[in-house]
Amino acid sequence: MCGIVGYVGPKVATPLLLDGLKRLEYRGYDSAGVAIMNGAGVKTVKEAGKIAKLESLLALTPVEGTTGIAHTRWATHGPPNQVNAHPHMSQDGTIAVVHNGIIENATVLKQMLEGRGYVFTSDTDTEVLAHLIEECFDGNLEDAVLEALWQVEGTYGIAVISSVDSHKIVAARKGSPLLLGLGDKENFIASDVSAILSHTRQVIYLEDGEMAVLDEAGYRVIDMNAVEIQKKVAHIDWDLAQIERGGYAHFMLKEIFEQPQTVENTMRGRLLDDEGTSKLGGLNLSDEELLSFTNIVITACGTSWHSALIGEHMLEELARIPVEVEYASEFRYRNPVVDSKTLCIVISQSGETADTLAAMREAKRRGARTLGLVNVVGSTIAREADGGIYLHAGPEIGVASTKAFTSQVVALLLFTLKLGRLRGALSQQRGSEIIAGMRALPGQIRQVLERAQEIEDIAEEYKRASNFLYLGRGYNFPVALEGALKLKEISYIHAEGYPAAEMKHGPIALIDEMMPVVFIAPHDSVFEKITSNVHEVKARKGRVIAVTSRDESALDGMLDYEFRIPETIDLLMPVLASVPLQLLAYYVAVKRGANVDQPRNLAKSVTVE
Ligand code: G6P
Repeated sequence: MCGIVGYVGPKVATPLLLDGLKRLEYRGYDSAGVAIMNGAGVKTVKEAGKIAKLESLLALTPVEGTTGIAHTRWATHGPPNQVNAHPHMSQDGTIAVVHNGIIENATVLKQMLEGRGYVFTSDTDTEVLAHLIEECFDGNLEDAVLEALWQVEGTYGIAVISSVDSHKIVAARKGSPLLLGLGDKENFIASDVSAILSHTRQVIYLEDGEMAVLDEAGYRVIDMNAVEIQKKVAHIDWDLAQIERGGYAHFMLKEIFEQPQTVENTMRGRLLDDEGTSKLGGLNLSDEELLSFTNIVITACGTSWHSALIGEHMLEELARIPVEVEYASEFRYRNPVVDSKTLCIVISQSGETADTLAAMREAKRRGARTLGLVNVVGSTIAREADGGIYLHAGPEIGVASTKAFTSQVVALLLFTLKLGRLRGALSQQRGSEIIAGMRALPGQIRQVLERAQEIEDIAEEYKRASNFLYLGRGYNFPVALEGALKLKEISYIHAEGYPAAEMKHGPIALIDEMMPVVFIAPHDSVFEKITSNVHEVKARKGRVIAVTSRDESALDGMLDYEFRIPETIDLLMPVLASVPLQLLAYYVAVKRGANVDQPRNLAKSVTVE
């Protein structure tokens, strides 16, 4: 979603800010801008479109100065044009603000400010903040920001500079991630660590209700009552190469090809082969506590929600515990049956998705214990969950999630092994068999990737389709959902995932010779059932693309295209079957000329509700 980066130090700020913005562009990218303090005051330059356009503009009109803030926007209030791009200026032109989040009482505040003579030039809620801070300003920027924020309802991650109280950045957080990067006689503020990783690895995560004041010499963190808070400095292990494309045409392709390694990393050191279970150091739950849960609720959004559905199957099958999967955005607007006997598993690649975070907090309020399955170390969900399992998949930059998904499935299986063995529902022998299957996964994913060309050929054939149907059963029904989501996210082809047998209750009406239908049909316990569904599609002249795992006479003459994946146990099929579907979406999108890493309207990390 929107990204923030700020710099205060001895260097010229613009190139540092532009570099940070480019690294944030994957989060959201309909417009961007910078505000730099130079001798003459605060100068803003902003532009609709990609960062490259802002960069060209800055090349024509360079702005000198060593303190600045910058923003890449994903529109919430007002269209993505130059006027609505951040930073927003106060009426007197002395204060610049960048903001992620939504000011919920913006209309009331705007009326109040208009009554006092402020004139609004944009459609954004952020401009309210800029004028409000000016209204509260009495020589000291942090006091003004504090006073303004007391009047604000909603969510924010903000960074503010002023030409009057200059050479400092004031930043504050409520519901939208922000971190401080600590350098040598220079400091940074950012919404995402990737923006500053090339300059420092020492960071401080701000919590909700905290404000930071940064200058060249150091930083202070205070609460909303201006009481100073001592913060822990965290060290980031990710290296720069991980957030660069490394020779691949797109981050998405790089991340698809990283999966042998990322799946390995998720499992590393956690498998106890002989005991048929796993060792998970971050759960913060004793065996007694784990045994005390009567039910599990898994909550997530998007791709993470799909992995949750696979987790539900695994946990119910192997740990024999009732599991509900909830869209995080729906969960807290119902009255879910969640109490202290409930374990709430929260899945999020970014660890910052606003709805998922809110759902986790709601589950906590109701007494549940919470476990975060998160990729981004130090993210809000990771910090606020009672315990967790890090995915260790490394930074995922491509907006369409790929490697995080396969790691989520593996992490869910690790937890299932642990709980299943503890509850006595899973035998040591079956646990060890599953682990043997898991150990083979990285090599098997590699085998799939080696044959990427076959998928590219299928993509060539179907790149002009206007609709796709994805069908799977059992463990592979969520894979069908995920395959369809990948395709629509990046190629803009309408695609639906369905449980294969449900097709008869609706989507079958859509099938004709123009409709490609992707079947996820490996040799598993429901293979025979899905064979009948393939026949039903073929009888209506649908075009069948099947992901299979062995030569099946039952499918003779039925398939227009077949992609064979290696055999594995049923519950690991989703990991192998999803890889060709990721590639299919990727190649179709590239062949249609779509911008795979920056699909229109989408954001990597959705930090507003
Ligand atoms: C956005 C992303 C998706 C992601 C979803 C949930 O919509 O574009 O790729 O699956 O958010 O994100 P999370 O970080 O919570 O897994």
